[in-house]
Amino acid sequence: MRGKLTVGNWKMHGGLTENAGRLAALAKGWHATAGRTLAVCVPFPYLAQAREVLSGSEVGWGAQDVSSHAAGAYTGEVSGAMLADFGCRFAIVGHSERRQYHGERDETVGAKARAALAAGVTPIACVGETLAERDAGTTGEVVERQLGAVVDALGADLARIVVAYEPVWAIGTGRTATPEQAQQVHAALRRRMQQAGARDVPLLYGGSVKAANAAALYAMPDVDGGLVGGASLDANELLAIARS
Ligand code: PGA
Repeated sequence: MRGKLTVGNWKMHGGLTENAGRLAALAKGWHATAGRTLAVCVPFPYLAQAREVLSGSEVGWGAQDVSSHAAGAYTGEVSGAMLADFGCRFAIVGHSERRQYHGERDETVGAKARAALAAGVTPIACVGETLAERDAGTTGEVVERQLGAVVDALGADLARIVVAYEPVWAIGTGRTATPEQAQQVHAALRRRMQQAGARDVPLLYGGSVKAANAAALYAMPDVDGGLVGGASLDANELLAIARS
């Protein structure tokens, strides 16, 4: 039985003072109930702070990216082992903002997922179509191609990841996919994962998730939780989503 996993993605927001209040509110406000999990993915410099404040709480933490390399002369990169050192449970890989602004290709996303797993960190592999791709009727094809690269990179380890469906047109736009639109894509992702032998991988929906729409999205049979950007910057809002 799959529970509901809610992961906050702070993106490039925050600062020591601001984070302190936000993290303390999460630690205090979250009491894991059966089948409910909450985590936040913070910018790299604040992993130590997240570890300090959230250790001993029931809130997990993670990073928003990871290098595809294990170690070496890769200036500016952060390895999976470094994330593990700071207690990261999760690393987001292949977020559409990484694909769009940093030219990340499907193969790179697969390699990053593999690198995270090798370090004992669970990758949250993101897939999702742009508005132009949706309008052209190619949503299925696009997410299949993006997921396929992760499937190919991981083999039997595929069962140990989390997948997030994040339609690009719904990210930060206030325009959420309807629960039915999300379910339709999630059902296809589920079939693809099951074909590849990964039966119970959590499938998160992301894109303008907030407390007001989370319950309807979470009620869909193949929506196992949410990847929450903007709304995760408000601790009470994130807590409300995680309880949905
Ligand atoms: P949003 O972002 O909730 O602000 O739309 C989601 C994401 O990009 O992970």
